[in-house]
Amino acid sequence: MRRADHHPSRRSFLDVTGAMMATGLTAGLTAGCASDSAGPDRHAAAPATTTTTTTSPEPVPATGRHQAGITLPQPAQPHLLAVVADLGAAVAPGPLLAELGEAIRALTAGDDPRLLGLPPGDLTVTVGVGPRLVRAVGASLPGAAGLPRFSRERIDSRARGGDLLIQLCAGDPLLLPVAASALLAQAGDRVRERWRQSARRGANVSVGDGRTAPRNPLGFIDGIIGPHTDAEQRRDLWLAGPPAVAGGTLAVLRRMELDLPRFAALSVAGQEAVFGRRRADGVPLSGGAADSSPELGAKTPDGRYLVPADAHARRAHATAVGVGLMLRRSYSIDEPAPGLLFACFQNDLRTFTATLTHMETSDALLPFTTTTASATFLILPGFDRRRPLGSRLFG
Ligand code: HEM
Repeated sequence: MRRADHHPSRRSFLDVTGAMMATGLTAGLTAGCASDSAGPDRHAAAPATTTTTTTSPEPVPATGRHQAGITLPQPAQPHLLAVVADLGAAVAPGPLLAELGEAIRALTAGDDPRLLGLPPGDLTVTVGVGPRLVRAVGASLPGAAGLPRFSRERIDSRARGGDLLIQLCAGDPLLLPVAASALLAQAGDRVRERWRQSARRGANVSVGDGRTAPRNPLGFIDGIIGPHTDAEQRRDLWLAGPPAVAGGTLAVLRRMELDLPRFAALSVAGQEAVFGRRRADGVPLSGGAADSSPELGAKTPDGRYLVPADAHARRAHATAVGVGLMLRRSYSIDEPAPGLLFACFQNDLRTFTATLTHMETSDALLPFTTTTASATFLILPGFDRRRPLGSRLFG
């Protein structure tokens, strides 16, 4: 296994820098000074006026009970790169995942030379394994089942399924391909990349209770309803068992292209009827606040539903479907076409499959979508030095 060299953490240096900035002690400290120990940009004598960037976002711990990049950080970072790869038939997942976990720890701590001196900031890397690998351990384990086919799919065989998900998120988009390259180099010829997707999130909008959510490319605030409290996350998000998967969760990734011109041609009221929420502030058409659940029974005096019968907020509503809450953490895309990299996490795959099946009957949003990539992964439980990534499943 290739080891990261261990010079003093660049993160601790940045933390000190951050503290100094907070107390106004930075007069004359330039980005060039700050990168003195590692930087390609060593211009110690540069005047303060040429400083372009001085802050680094809060680091997100890579280790713990759950992997980072699902509920943390909050709000999610603005940039994402998802890389999906297959493992060679003879490759043992255990050692590979343990190495990847070590590399993730080093990369996110700024201790890996392959990050080329870039400050890791709020970089998170989240690793999942596909159904083929899970089935090899146990056919009844969560994550062993793949996704069925749905309508409105146009998916190249390369973009369906996969053995390994590496989801990278950061405030600085430059970090993502560099960190992905380091991890793929670590894996070497044990993996073969299948598809990758870059994506980003728009500005965060306040949705109440201290939470925020971004708008999607259709202009609507996306990611309001979900398992946000600890109790909801224990109930619907994290896998409670068996021990090999406890603390993990199930991810679904769907690249959904969107017909923007056709949606934009609707009146605002027509667009709001598609979602069942107001475009400006995300409030359900049945009233309340942005984080209110739509009141599905509420009607106008002449007996029409305030949230239309085919509105997305009704068709996807957990109670209407009869499932738990899914944590949606989608990002917008513009390549290969405008749309959404829909990403959701839940502890029961049926939460996703039953919701989409229920939407397929009559969801007004679906005719604006074409799904061009689709995969599900068991997101491995969190890890640390004592319990390497993947060790509980493949150890
Ligand atoms: C490109 C496709 C999609 C877009 C643009 C989209 C957008 C939205 C928006 C704007 C909302 C309302 C605000 C919120 O609670 O976040 C919403 C709600 C929701 N969406 Fe989607 N969505 C898409 C696809 C899907 C898919 C494929 C699923 C799952 C199969 C899904 C599940 C949900 C759920 C569960 C809610 C919460 C409903 C509620 O309880 O109010 N969405 N979506």
